[in-house]
Amino acid sequence: MHSIETKALTKNYRIGERSISVLDSVSLTVAPGEFVVVTGESGSGKSTLLTLLSGLDRPDAGRVFIENRDITDLDEDTLAPLRNSTFGFVFQSFHLVPSLNVLENVMFPAELRGDPQARQGAQALLSRVGLAERLTSFPNQLSGGEKQRCAICRALINTPRIVFADEPTGNLDSVNGTAVLDLLLELHRERGTTLLMVTHSPEIAGRADRVITLKDGRIVSEQNRV
Ligand SMILES: Nc1ncnc2c1ncn2[C@@H]1O[C@H](COP(=O)(O)OP(=O)(O)O)[C@@H](O)[C@H]1O
Ligand SMILES: [Mg+2]
Repeated sequence: MHSIETKALTKNYRIGERSISVLDSVSLTVAPGEFVVVTGESGSGKSTLLTLLSGLDRPDAGRVFIENRDITDLDEDTLAPLRNSTFGFVFQSFHLVPSLNVLENVMFPAELRGDPQARQGAQALLSRVGLAERLTSFPNQLSGGEKQRCAICRALINTPRIVFADEPTGNLDSVNGTAVLDLLLELHRERGTTLLMVTHSPEIAGRADRVITLKDGRIVSEQNRV
């Protein structure tokens, strides 16, 4: 059983007449519960890889399997609930809904599923990350670190089996970055979630089970922790 598997994943973007190759035949597998870091220079295709793995965009060629199910050709009506129940996302720029308060932001994915425990679940997670006093604050009233802790709670509210994090500490100072990383790793270990994280941080890479390096849309190295 694989958590994530890709076969010869290829993605090109067209800009006017030109087609640029962004991912070139990327094949990888990730085991359930594994913590994999994806690293590589800016523009090497890391974010594109995450959008393809999570079914947010489609490859031009190749396949994506999630828990051994081929999701490559699923339509949006099938993918959307799968994403909401199986995946959690954490982004560099937080992506909180500005018009919803902290509690509402975190409850939102659970409410989409009709989870009657949405409120209690969100409150429990937010307490866990030290935001119990900020439930009715709006995103623009939070510090960067608080926003990211809120975003992590939102990513975890549906107890996803796979968490994608795209430079989750990229906009944070080192103290907040470390706190956010520790939280993500703690929850990953506790719940056995698969964690696929894009980061430039050698420190974070040093804590991963495996580090995949992309260059110009290809995997140029894969290192397992010894
Ligand atoms: N929607 C898009 N349209 C055109 N080009 C894109 C698009 N998204 C990304 N690219 C290009 O694809 C390449 C890889 O981008 P990205 O996956 O964001 O890299 P990374 O996350 O490693 O910085 C870059 O050259 C970028 O300019
Ligand atoms: Mg990126």
